[in-house]
Amino acid sequence: MRMTSILQHQLPSISARAMRAMVLLALTLTIGWVSSALAAESTSSCVTCHSDPNLLVTNKKLYDYYRLWEQSVHGQEGVTCSDCHNGNPELPTKKGAHGAQGMAAASQSSPVNYKNVPHTCAQCHEEFYNDFIKSKHYKESMVKEKTRRGPNCVTCHGSVNTTVLNVNTVRSTCELCHNDETRNHPDIPDRAAAVLNKFLSVQRFYNYLANKEDLLQNPGAVSVIDKMKTSIFVDWHTFEIAMIEKRTVELLDIMKEKRNEIRSHLKDSKN
Ligand code: HEC
Ligand code: HEC
Ligand code: HEC
Ligand code: HEC
Ligand code: HEC
Repeated sequence: MRMTSILQHQLPSISARAMRAMVLLALTLTIGWVSSALAAESTSSCVTCHSDPNLLVTNKKLYDYYRLWEQSVHGQEGVTCSDCHNGNPELPTKKGAHGAQGMAAASQSSPVNYKNVPHTCAQCHEEFYNDFIKSKHYKESMVKEKTRRGPNCVTCHGSVNTTVLNVNTVRSTCELCHNDETRNHPDIPDRAAAVLNKFLSVQRFYNYLANKEDLLQNPGAVSVIDKMKTSIFVDWHTFEIAMIEKRTVELLDIMKEKRNEIRSHLKDSKN
């Protein structure tokens, strides 16, 4: 708040409200400058060319991929087109940037061809990949390649949009393949939803605990829980539902215990 005191010093008669407006403006300008500097640093020819609004008319599909990316966690975290597609983001022409192989996902050599997707995602999500390649899903997606019966990362999470499944969305994703018509374990969508429903309770307890953590005087507690949460996400990729459920219930029990600790702590401090 040094900025405030400098301004106050120069303009002693200014009202507090005008003061706040000026400080806000100065802050906004600074933030604007910082973010355009960051954008300049991360510019790739892929983004420059694919974000052209003319594409909305001439090649909407292309534009849609760009928009999905821009709004995704990946877009926000600076995971860019060439991280998944390869190519050369420093060359301005289409031919140069795309490279001799071209960019088509259908090409076997493309890193986003369905066969290569898990490996491409593994660059940054290795622990998920390590469990996934042990699952029946992976085997089905690779071995039965003509029918492509098994899902890969993109089937459940989208290609660029980083969808995270929850109790409301998981059913329809699993039902794509596990339903009465395919007779491929039609009970699975309900079982998966039941486990994610328990996980929703974990999230709610988590928010409560995170707010009250300072009262617990045990700053480590939330980080331990964080680790367990992540490891349950990873476990999902074995698709061993009974095991995932057991681990989710274990975490839920720990959360309940912590909540009770906080409650009695609050009671003690009132007495
Ligand atoms: C100068 C403009 C331009 C640049 C630079 C560019 N692209 Fe493209 N890209 C296009 C156009 C136009 C298409 C539509 C298909 C075509 O005309 O070949 C396309 C198509 C694609 C496709 C769809 C597959 C296909 O062949 O249709 C992907 C994926 C793609 N680009 C990714 C990238 C990536 C990744 C980069 C950066 C390494 C990049 N593009 C750089 C213009 C560009
Ligand atoms: C996290 C990885 C990832 C990032 C980042 C990413 N993509 Fe993709 N993209 C994929 C995957 C996987 C596919 C293939 C599956 C599909 O089409 O959904 C794909 C498919 C595409 C396609 C269709 C290709 C075809 O042959 O039909 C286009 C076009 C495309 N991406 C453009 C882009 C552009 C432009 C960017 C950057 C603004 C980008 N992607 C960033 C993973 C990514
Ligand atoms: C170059 C690194 C990189 C690659 C390649 C990559 N990701 Fe990510 N991904 C990230 C980062 C960074 C985050 C945000 C931080 C986090 O959640 O780990 C993220 C987050 C996610 C999330 C969680 C989103 C959320 O809301 O928490 C999902 C799901 C995801 N990625 C799926 C994929 C899939 C599927 C692929 C392959 C098509 C892929 N990622 C490829 C770096 C990458
Ligand atoms: C059959 C569906 C399915 C497939 C295939 C799949 N996942 Fe997942 N993934 C899930 C579910 C369910 C969860 C746990 C709930 C959630 O967070 O979405 C999850 C969680 C995640 C998360 C953590 C999201 C968060 O909230 O932080 C990441 C990252 C991720 N998966 C990456 C991948 C990658 C990489 C692959 C491929 C190697 C993959 N997944 C394949 C269903 C799938
Ligand atoms: C693209 C199709 C597809 C999608 C989507 C899909 N699965 Fe599967 N799943 C399969 C196939 C194929 C098998 C192997 C069936 C078999 O051989 O018994 C399988 C097997 C399984 C099994 C193992 C059953 C056993 O034999 O023990 C579980 C568990 C499972 N899936 C859970 C899920 C969950 C949870 C989801 C949603 C998050 C999901 N699947 C989404 C295709 C799919």
